[in-house]
Amino acid sequence: METAIVTGASSGIGRAVAAALVDRGFRVIGTSRNSSTVTDPAPGVEYRDLDLTDRASIQGFVNALDGVVVDVLINNAGESQCGPLEELPVDAIRRLFELNVFGAVELTQALLPGMRQRRQGKIVNVGSMLASFPLAYRSSYVATKAAIKGFATAARYELRPFGIEITTVEPGSIATGLSGRRTKYVGAQSPYLQSFTSAIATLDAKEANGISAEQVARTVIKAVDDKKTLPIYAVGSNAPLVFLARRLLPRSVIESVMAKAYNVSA
Ligand SMILES: NC(=O)c1ccc[n+]([C@@H]2O[C@H](COP(=O)([O-])OP(=O)(O)OC[C@H]3O[C@@H](n4cnc5c(N)ncnc54)[C@H](OP(=O)(O)O)[C@@H]3O)[C@@H](O)[C@H]2O)c1
Repeated sequence: METAIVTGASSGIGRAVAAALVDRGFRVIGTSRNSSTVTDPAPGVEYRDLDLTDRASIQGFVNALDGVVVDVLINNAGESQCGPLEELPVDAIRRLFELNVFGAVELTQALLPGMRQRRQGKIVNVGSMLASFPLAYRSSYVATKAAIKGFATAARYELRPFGIEITTVEPGSIATGLSGRRTKYVGAQSPYLQSFTSAIATLDAKEANGISAEQVARTVIKAVDDKKTLPIYAVGSNAPLVFLARRLLPRSVIESVMAKAYNVSA
């Protein structure tokens, strides 16, 4: 039986991916910062504690694997953040990078030697379509998702000769309730307040009407199944059409369509 690790498997996309992998016959180790409080665990998933912002927690999680052969790693855990660049507290940006980027990178580094020795492994980073289509007031989040994609798109050339595939799934708007948990940084007297409020309300509405986490899970499973992965898999928010438009249309047109869609100036 193959083993998969899914970070952030307590809710949303991670939970759906963990459940789908169990259905596919994997032994699935799912993570949560506090696995004893997971209210809706995915059936068949073995939950363990992991806080990706805490290096001791990452080390403890890796040590506790103690010889478990890990075939698949899904770097899913993440947080959403928004605010005008001028007002984002640097400590909040650092914390976001710790979770969305550095934690995932450190966990990946810990699992790579075993995968390389066995000449077999699959790593899927859950990015965001916002990394391909950046949006106002999401600069820190966009930057983390561009960073995690960058690690994968560059390292895929290093890892393929060792039988390891690494790729990124970019979800669009997904109805997981993530928007309710998004940290917001904007001052009550901010000169950006009106534009920020309107853009984020539009974003929240799109997420509330987004596709399901289970649909994203199907794309993640496709990435796991593909013998040779694509550099990016996108799902939700009319991804095939939107990526095609980006290939065919001038950048200025795409930017003004994005700006109009989110009520910000292009
Ligand atoms: N929803 C969307 O529209 C959307 C779109 C594009 C990309 N994404 C990405 O998809 C991924 C999953 O998002 P989701 O929508 O499913 O959100 P979610 O339901 O809020 O799930 C986030 C997961 O991350 C875990 N997590 C949070 N902080 C953590 C930390 N410090 N260390 C380890 N794990 C932590 C949470 O687990 P605990 O709270 O149990 O620790 C939870 O399982 C994220 O990377 C997100 O950026 C989502």
